[in-house]
Amino acid sequence: MQKFNRFFFMIFNVGLVVFALSTGLSFGEDPNPELVAKGRELFNAKEGLGVKFACIMCHKGAKAVKKAKVEALGDQLPSVINKYIVTKGKGKEIAPGSPEMQALIAYIKLEHSK
Ligand code: HEC
Repeated sequence: MQKFNRFFFMIFNVGLVVFALSTGLSFGEDPNPELVAKGRELFNAKEGLGVKFACIMCHKGAKAVKKAKVEALGDQLPSVINKYIVTKGKGKEIAPGSPEMQALIAYIKLEHSK
């Protein structure tokens, strides 16, 4: 009986350590700081996207893109970003799978939107 309990106590502790490590890793750090930084750069300057008006011109402070909107858009986010690149930024659409689009999405989701 004693051995039996010790065995389960050990398994429980191993479980605790694994849990602590995994939550620490997923909540403690930004999943991809470089991608977010690239997206921030693209959002704040017109050169990277080849637009005439940078996103930040209109989405500053209280005008930041809303987190709830981003969540509601879900998979539509890339096409909506492209819509604003064209209609507001006066630039050309970028490929939905491009590194630039992935960076913009990461930045908008993880840092920009409130
Ligand atoms: C000339 C101003 C202007 C520029 C430049 C601009 N936007 Fe917007 N954007 C708006 C307006 C206005 C809306 C509509 C929502 C609102 O009224 O706040 C909007 C909405 C959005 C939305 C949808 C979320 C929502 O609140 O409806 C996203 C995503 C977005 N913009 C991303 C971008 C990105 C990325 C860029 C840069 C490529 C950009 N915008 C450039 C003015 C602009």
